[in-house]
Amino acid sequence: MYSVVKAEQLADRVHELVVEAPHVARHAKAGQFLIVRVDPDGERIPLTISRAEGDLVRVIFMTIGATTYRLAELRAGDSILDVAGPLGRPSGIPQNATCVVVGGGVGIASCPIIARTLRGAGNRVIGIIGARNADLMILEDEMRQACDELHVTTDDGSMGRHGYAADVLKEVIEAEPVDQVWVIGPAIMMKVTSAVTRPKGIRTWVSLNPIMVDGTGMCGSCRVVVNGETKFACVDGPEFDAHQVDFDRLMQRQRIYPEEEREALERHHASHCGCEPGARHG
Ligand SMILES: Cc1cc2nc3c(=O)[nH]c(=O)nc-3n(C[C@H](O)[C@H](O)[C@H](O)COP(=O)(O)OP(=O)(O)OC[C@H]3O[C@@H](n4cnc5c(N)ncnc54)[C@H](O)[C@@H]3O)c2cc1C
Ligand code: FES
Repeated sequence: MYSVVKAEQLADRVHELVVEAPHVARHAKAGQFLIVRVDPDGERIPLTISRAEGDLVRVIFMTIGATTYRLAELRAGDSILDVAGPLGRPSGIPQNATCVVVGGGVGIASCPIIARTLRGAGNRVIGIIGARNADLMILEDEMRQACDELHVTTDDGSMGRHGYAADVLKEVIEAEPVDQVWVIGPAIMMKVTSAVTRPKGIRTWVSLNPIMVDGTGMCGSCRVVVNGETKFACVDGPEFDAHQVDFDRLMQRQRIYPEEEREALERHHASHCGCEPGARHG
């Protein structure tokens, strides 16, 4: 069993958990993820390692279905049955380069650890974080500390600049030479934002989030198409060259179990909290 040492709500439907998991924390690198199973009846779900310090790992997640709602109910002192990891390949870290790290929505959770690691390797790091509105913005202070320069955008202009992270990225790559870019967020945001760097041929990485089951390359459920070839995101990724990813196929595969997911969520709400999907769990 793994102890929860901190559980906090960061924004609407976005929660942070810090868990004692020494075997994961001591080996975790930027870009990797873990798989949790809350209890014996629970599904295994992948979450990015958002921070690793000492024996503790932090994950940040959005409540979207049965398992993430179950995780959001945990409090400090509770425990989680399984925490497996670190899984996936770490981010490839250049040296003495100019890098941009772009996070969208809950994808911002993955950005500070990448930005800090890049900066630690002597890179200049420009951060861009975007959310739908101010209430959904997370980790601004942490990103400000991790980056040499930070741009904040919201779709409705309620915080930072009015617009999309992609608009700022366009300006940043016009203003100075950029060597590599990371874009992490919902699939559609990664597709649109990474298209910005294609004309200049800037190496751009995205962290893909297909459905995963075992996380070890055995079940095939996380297959994605990159440069016309099938890859398994859990062992070959989750980071891939954005300009070679078939995002449309990824988005199709993310929606293959809607009925099962709806039923699992309804079962969860009936048995655990009785509230509506989307309700705030403070
Ligand atoms: C490598 C990786 C890292 C991720 N990191 C984060 C993170 O840091 N924060 C975060 O909020 N989310 C992250 N996700 C997505 C997260 O795993 C899903 O939101 C979660 O599995 C949903 O489970 P659920 O039971 O709550 O919802 P469900 O109702 O089961 O599913 C809702 C939607 O979530 C996706 N999903 C469902 N099951 C899985 C699964 N086993 N694997 C992947 N996606 C699934 C599907 O798109 C599905 O339509 C990550 C996914 C991957 C692959
Ligand atoms: S999750 Fe099973 S092969 Fe990747």
